[in-house]
Amino acid sequence: MNKAFLAILIAVLYFILSGMFTDSVFEEQKITSNSYPIEVASAKAVGTGEKSVVSKAPSMAELLQTADLAAGKKAFKVCKTCHTTEKGGKTVTGPNLWNILGRKKAAVAGFSYSSAMAEKGGNWAYDDLYQFLEKPKDFIKKTKMIFAGVKKKKKRANLIAYLRSLSDSPAALPAVEAAPETENKD
Ligand code: HEC
Repeated sequence: MNKAFLAILIAVLYFILSGMFTDSVFEEQKITSNSYPIEVASAKAVGTGEKSVVSKAPSMAELLQTADLAAGKKAFKVCKTCHTTEKGGKTVTGPNLWNILGRKKAAVAGFSYSSAMAEKGGNWAYDDLYQFLEKPKDFIKKTKMIFAGVKKKKKRANLIAYLRSLSDSPAALPAVEAAPETENKD
């Protein structure tokens, strides 16, 4: 009888103790799971080339679809020190930006561009503006636009949406790449 009782007691004790043990493990897991966002970010930086949930940051085209024009206009305040926006507006420190989207680079007659900007070539496509405004000196090393850049993607998209509106006939928005899982339904 005593042996059986002891066996039950040990079994019960074992259950209680192992239960406590699992609890403490569970607690620890809870804590470590808080650091997950960091791991996700670094996984993205490495990039597997595969489309995964991790690489699902919105693209410029997607951000432009939902861009906030009013916020863009507000964000442009910092540019106003150097740029006018109205049609035929004058040159200040920087060239006038009317119709800038799709405009040839360094095209304002009478503005003395840096040779770096003058030689960059091509038009101000969405991608070019998106990169240039992130960090002007990265896109055109010797530009004389003294401006650190706009790091936030959403803010840049808003700014570009505003620049796009500075036109008699704003250009079409860039197409958003269809998600791979999208079905072709007619
Ligand atoms: C401190 C003055 C200054 C500020 C602030 C500034 N810019 Fe400029 N920007 C310039 C100058 C100067 C140039 C000409 C650069 C060159 O020739 O290298 C320029 C050039 C440009 C161009 C190319 C124009 C063309 O005709 O090819 C764009 C686009 C532009 N700026 C947009 C912006 C936007 C948007 C902002 C605000 C987020 C901004 N700039 C803030 C001075 C400024």
